Amino acid sequence: MAFKRISAAEAASYVKHGYNIGLSGFTPAGTAKAVTPEIAKIAEAEHAAGRPFQIGVFTGASTGEATDGILSRVKAIRYRAPYTTNPDFRKAVNNGEIAYNDLHLSQMAQELRYGFMGKVNIAIIEACDVTDDGKVYLTAAGGIVPTIARLADHIIIELNAAHSLAAKCLHDVYEPLDPPYRMEIPIHKPSDRIGLPYVQIDPKKVLGVVECNIPDQARSFTAPDPVTDKIGQNVAEFLENDMHRGIIPSTFLPLQSGVGNIANAVLGALGRSEHIPAFQMYTEVLQDSVVGLIRQGRIKFGSTCSLTVTNDCLKGIYDDIEFFKDKLVLRQSEISNNPGVIRRLGVISINTALEADIYGNVNSTHVTGTKMMNGIGGSGDFTRNAYISIFTCPSVAKEGKISAIVPMVSHADHTEHDVNIIVTEQGIADLRGKSPVQRAETIIENCAHPDYKNILWDYVHSAGKGQTPHTLSASLAMHDTFLKKGDMRLVDWKDYM
Ligand code: COA
Repeated sequence: MAFKRISAAEAASYVKHGYNIGLSGFTPAGTAKAVTPEIAKIAEAEHAAGRPFQIGVFTGASTGEATDGILSRVKAIRYRAPYTTNPDFRKAVNNGEIAYNDLHLSQMAQELRYGFMGKVNIAIIEACDVTDDGKVYLTAAGGIVPTIARLADHIIIELNAAHSLAAKCLHDVYEPLDPPYRMEIPIHKPSDRIGLPYVQIDPKKVLGVVECNIPDQARSFTAPDPVTDKIGQNVAEFLENDMHRGIIPSTFLPLQSGVGNIANAVLGALGRSEHIPAFQMYTEVLQDSVVGLIRQGRIKFGSTCSLTVTNDCLKGIYDDIEFFKDKLVLRQSEISNNPGVIRRLGVISINTALEADIYGNVNSTHVTGTKMMNGIGGSGDFTRNAYISIFTCPSVAKEGKISAIVPMVSHADHTEHDVNIIVTEQGIADLRGKSPVQRAETIIENCAHPDYKNILWDYVHSAGKGQTPHTLSASLAMHDTFLKKGDMRLVDWKDYM
């Protein structure tokens, strides 16, 4: 059966107030983006007519401007899960306008299947090709597509000509069964393929196919600066030493790394290292720097959920698909981030913290404990299960007015039990095998900015004894001082003790 071609506006008209929509994609890569702006127009018209119009949005991870941006601005989102990076969405969440469920990305698909978040009314899926019997070939990300396609009452397909048919070679589509029937996920090395190259959908559910030609709304990153460069060098030096000591096998282990400037600098330094052999990635997002290292032979294989790359870089992959097709694979987020696979492969995780405390707890999500930044993303999936978990961050933010090393994190995403290594431009704190007090010493001495070392030592000395010494009334005094006086360096412990 040939699917009916419909306009984006007609597709959007099927979405009703109170519905939950499931979207393909993971980061702006592979996200449906033709229909959501039309849904925003409906929301605006309904609101202008004095009628309510809000929907729930389920995705793989962040989307792009065409979803989180436009829909937040017209106040069309009632509920959303999981991770997002959009500034308008952030503003709305922090104003209390949107119910945001920030969960580990590996859990998104299964929590939908378990029924924790309600029904999926319509799935909107970006594809580079679709066959009459319902084989949907995805574009630049795996996301949660098999799950939303199976759970949804109806499906809309965005057939996006901006993506090449070459994307067909990249996918390994696999959806696990749920307990009590779940089996092990048989990935024993990053390059293992265990599924199909397409998502099989029920053709009867398809409302129509929207033909479009819209590139991914990729973010660009600024070039590394001296601080991010130094962090990158420190991570590379740490990994070289651990390999030299035999802690990391000489063949090396697969890496996970996030997106952003620090991740770029870290990968750049690892790529340049003469001591680290060509390695593999088992990760959730893969950015331009990884593609460059694959071309140079420094990265042998990349397993990921999405190609979060610039459009030029994506075109380069599509144009050179014969080179890349046995060096890349795109998976669903519950597979790319699967705790069992991460632990089996011995993945080394590298993620960015907003702040870490002197005992090794990490806050990735909340500015001064209350305001959502982005979300936990996959950092928890990887950190908890990594062979070695690393967190990086500059030692200070906001021109030194904020220390990234604090007595107690104002929100905990990753606890002292899961965090092995903290790296700032100041140095490396190796927390493995250490007690909380020993950790405090190495974190303050090696990672804190010189402006804050004595401030932090004064806190520790005043905290007395205990397994994890704290003066509770003063543990958030640096945050409180920033909120009241605009600079953590102005903290006066006497005011809090
Ligand atoms: N308190 C307040 N603000 C802080 C801060 C702190 N302790 N540390 C950093 N910031 C601010 C920065 O000043 C910057 O502000 P700006 O946007 O106004 O310039 C902003 O937070 C981002 O910091 P930046 O240093 O540019 O880092 P980043 O872009 O790499 O983002 C995270 C850092 C933590 C927000 C980001 O990595 C993230 O969302 N992580 C969670 C998800 C994750 O780890 N996923 C797994 C891999 S994809």
